[in-house]
Amino acid sequence: MSDKTYPVPAEWAARAFLDADEYAAMYQASVADPDGFWAEHGKRIHWFSPFTTVKNTSFIPGQVSIKWFEDGITNVAYNCIDRHLAERADQVAIIWEGDNPSESKTITYGELAAEVNKFANVLRNRDVQKGDRVTIYMPMIPEAAYAMLACARLGAIHSVVFGGFSPDSLAGRISDCESRCIITADEGLRGGRKVPLKANVDAAIERLGGGVDHVIVVRRTGGAVNMEPIRDVWYHEAADLVSDECPAEHMNAEDPLFILYTSGSTGKPKGVLHTTGGYLVYASMTHQYVFDYHEGDVYWCTADVGWVTGHSYIVYGPLANGATTLMFEGVPNYPSVSRFWEVIDKHQVNIFYTAPTAIRALMQSGEEPVRKTSRASLRLLGSVGEPINPEAWEWYHRVVGEGRCPIVDTWWQTETGGILITPLPGATALKPGSATHPFFGVKPEVVDAEGKVLDGATEGNLVIADSWPGQMRTVYGDHERFEQTYFATYPGKYFTGDGCRRDADGYYWITGRVDDVINVSGHRMGTAEVESALVAHPNVSEAAVVGFPHDIKGQGIYAYVTLMADVQPSEELRKELVAWVRKEIGPIASPDLIQFAPGLPKTRSGKIMRRILRKIAEDQFENLGDTSTLADPGVVDDLVTNRQNKK
Ligand code: WT7
Repeated sequence: MSDKTYPVPAEWAARAFLDADEYAAMYQASVADPDGFWAEHGKRIHWFSPFTTVKNTSFIPGQVSIKWFEDGITNVAYNCIDRHLAERADQVAIIWEGDNPSESKTITYGELAAEVNKFANVLRNRDVQKGDRVTIYMPMIPEAAYAMLACARLGAIHSVVFGGFSPDSLAGRISDCESRCIITADEGLRGGRKVPLKANVDAAIERLGGGVDHVIVVRRTGGAVNMEPIRDVWYHEAADLVSDECPAEHMNAEDPLFILYTSGSTGKPKGVLHTTGGYLVYASMTHQYVFDYHEGDVYWCTADVGWVTGHSYIVYGPLANGATTLMFEGVPNYPSVSRFWEVIDKHQVNIFYTAPTAIRALMQSGEEPVRKTSRASLRLLGSVGEPINPEAWEWYHRVVGEGRCPIVDTWWQTETGGILITPLPGATALKPGSATHPFFGVKPEVVDAEGKVLDGATEGNLVIADSWPGQMRTVYGDHERFEQTYFATYPGKYFTGDGCRRDADGYYWITGRVDDVINVSGHRMGTAEVESALVAHPNVSEAAVVGFPHDIKGQGIYAYVTLMADVQPSEELRKELVAWVRKEIGPIASPDLIQFAPGLPKTRSGKIMRRILRKIAEDQFENLGDTSTLADPGVVDDLVTNRQNKK
């Protein structure tokens, strides 16, 4: 932990929307009278027909229900596009920077309107209607945003699946929400390498044995792909036949906008459901205040649209605010480790939002690749996805931001829809590694294992005591799981799954997940998912997966694997298992370490004691805790000896 404090720079105090006193007053108002506060701020988006009620929410187990602005009528795409046309048809909405530095383009709001309308008409011609689910499996090209906005325009519910997921993972997500229409590209392009997106879609549909009526294929690389007659269509051919006008469907505030699958501590990924009005109010408001977005600023969030960060802070928040948002197809180290900084200079980026894992990876190449670029346009830096260690924070601040740019360390989750705990650049003195204070309307509490609310400087589990407009509404198709996962542990409160410390100044420090979710390079992974992939291999009898501290990724994946009786451990098998998991789930789930274990530590009732496995993976052998309930204590000695041998 670092106890250094960085005061708000004078320049920021003068230019920002809010200073410290204004933040404090507004925060007080937001929690004292949520109805009054959000009635006012709900007006920041355009409503075809205004809401007359504001907050109608219950966290009580058995009757969890979350509704905001419930009788208001609006449309997200209308808010992100049409509403701006009178004033900014010629302003750039999206700057697209390709994987290859020689490729980039800009799309104005006027052009965005035409593109999204065409895309919506292509969908409409394939009978996509309000409430239908559409799966989007795309590279980071403007068409990914057009596709999302086209769904929003028609009232169809999109489910974006990250392009790094395997055909199996994709198939699971298509079938869970019963998408009959899939939007993809021939191939993706990342770091000079091609990703076979269309081939993966074909494999996923084959695994499902059908059920998909339409596959719309955007041409990106021009690589050869199989096109199934009738089912598959090239987007450019279909788009040529349709008009660039398409009315925006009138949507109720609580009509679903999108599903996004995310990993939990048990079972298969959950379809997190977000709705229309509250989500957009919250995404746009956080985008404006957290990034202090002013007219004319160029804003760049390096996430992929396959994650919630891409939804809220590349597409919906920025576009609802009439911003210029940069969309990057590539990776931080291609063609060189200066790429981020070169893109910042090329497009004169003012606000830059990335993940700690990228910072840590780039730090390894030293300061020179950064210093050789100007970055004079930069004014604000942001961090998201995992705790940022103070060393990485200091480097980001001193080297990337030349000491002049505040860093907003934004804590939130797929479930929260938008940022919940964060500094505001003109209002908050920063402490490296702390996400600092709650955003408007957010009531964080630190509780102990029994749910007792802890006061003052303390440490425990992070819960949120009341609803905010961007909150997820349910797990798609499984409201019971929604209640169980988030409202049963601490009845009446939203349980985040994160541990948290609050210091004497009231600053929040997120310490990481306290459940069986691990965070690998800012990507969320359920240990149970990796385990079930491993045990699906014919040579594996049992597997237990835990996270361990990793210099670059934050957490790495540590897998303990027990083989079938007649199988011998080998280097070859180890490699095969890594490849197997990549194939089953996707490259982001590759185990970093596999330890062959003749036995796993279990209680007498057969429950695997993960606490012990975590300690061994963390190299904390002296600190294994109570092992008296183990069925066979000898197993642990074995594991420790093996772990130590490998060091
Ligand atoms: C988990 C949510 C929110 C968009 C990206 C991740 C961790 C996220 C921070 C932060 C410490 C953070 C938490 C959280 N996390 N941001 N600034 N400081 N931890 O979304 O995949 O739903 O993961 O990411 O552990 O629970 P996600």
